[in-house]
Amino acid sequence: MDKILISGGHKLKGKIHISGAKNAALAILPAAILSDGICRIENLPNISDITLMCRILADLGVDVKMVDEKAIEIDPRKMRSSVASYELMRSIRASCYLLGALLAKFNESTIYLPGGCDFGTRPIDQHLKGFTALGATHNIDGGMINVRCERLVGSNVYMDVVSVGATVNIMLAAVKAEGLTVIENAAKEPHIVDLANFLNCMGADIVGAGTDIIKIKGVKSLKGTNYSIIPDQIEAGTYLTAAVATGGEITIESVTPKHLESITAKLKEIGAELIEGNDSIHIKCSGDLKRCNVKTMPHPGFPTDMQPQITTLLSIVPGTSIVNEAVWDNRFRYIEELRRMGANISVDGRLAVIEGVENLTGAPVKATDLRAGSALVIAGLAAKGKTVISNIHHIERGYESIVEKLRSLGADICRISEEEIKSTEACSV
Ligand code: UD1
Repeated sequence: MDKILISGGHKLKGKIHISGAKNAALAILPAAILSDGICRIENLPNISDITLMCRILADLGVDVKMVDEKAIEIDPRKMRSSVASYELMRSIRASCYLLGALLAKFNESTIYLPGGCDFGTRPIDQHLKGFTALGATHNIDGGMINVRCERLVGSNVYMDVVSVGATVNIMLAAVKAEGLTVIENAAKEPHIVDLANFLNCMGADIVGAGTDIIKIKGVKSLKGTNYSIIPDQIEAGTYLTAAVATGGEITIESVTPKHLESITAKLKEIGAELIEGNDSIHIKCSGDLKRCNVKTMPHPGFPTDMQPQITTLLSIVPGTSIVNEAVWDNRFRYIEELRRMGANISVDGRLAVIEGVENLTGAPVKATDLRAGSALVIAGLAAKGKTVISNIHHIERGYESIVEKLRSLGADICRISEEEIKSTEACSV
């Protein structure tokens, strides 16, 4: 398998385009099976998680047609109720959205329990609580979960924890249920709003997405529509953080600055200068960087999916910073890898205490999950010397053309095979 080789120490400079949001697309693609016609979905990111979701849909009999590099047509009219293959389901967390979508379509859904990034226990009790409230029963057997009902009837669901996945799944199940469903303590992430907008374009009646209370009045049918996915705020935040870590100056285009407020606020606190346009952010970092503390929270708090990237940046900021991971119980595994590069970070449960060092130094490291992988890319860009990152399939799950985008910003980075790694200076640009 290929690796990523980075010769660090180049300031990022220039402009890049941000791709469509992975997590919005992963909710919208299964939602499209609820339509009675064809849905055309645009601004899809070209990443392996999306390819996998499309293969799962095709495995279920959905007609999935790539219209161009970023647009797809989904025709679910010949779809049958069946179970997608274990190999496909286990590698992608969002496959659990098929529980809600298939339940709404066929009154029954059976899926293999989902996989995805491993950063602690990932229960689905809140998803099941929602399905039960709507009148479904469930059974887990042989690594599979079956959810079924006579019919779905709208209800009140109070979520005990704020869960993106459970909010998505309950929305999908409720959209064609009889009567009104009210989700309280709902997740407010931009992709929840994007999913609601998409379903409303199909004819759903959803209000309140983006607040704690989402009200869904069930409709009899949903029609095909054309829809464009929002930009990926985590991809955007990753490039902004990389720019600061290298002391660079970049502009990211095709973004929604509002979706990035908790991230840009932290980067300003650390010492970056930012100028926001309607759909762009310019970031510059020339002065001294300042330590800060970060606590991850559901939206609009600081996103857990930016935690590894900001921790990596703080590892080269003078002083002591504390990062509190309040969403997942085991999301610091990548720190072991950062330590190989000279980072001085101690971890105690959900707290990371970071003593900023002057420099990181290049080293062979391994991506342990998607965002951990992008954090190692940032570390490699900022470090002195060469970094070789293995297990890059994790990174390719969520970052479209990351190597090409960073090269266009002046980074010395390339994808390289095991054999090439052995030859010297293989990657000078
Ligand atoms: C989604 C994102 C993931 C992100 C996470 C939190 C997708 C495909 N993935 O994951 O990148 O890190 O949101 O922003 O969009 N929980 C329960 N019971 C449940 C469900 C969740 O206790 O039934 C807990 C989890 O253990 C976790 C917290 O709730 O501590 C948040 O999880 P959730 O928001 O559901 O994450 P995902 O939807 O899996």
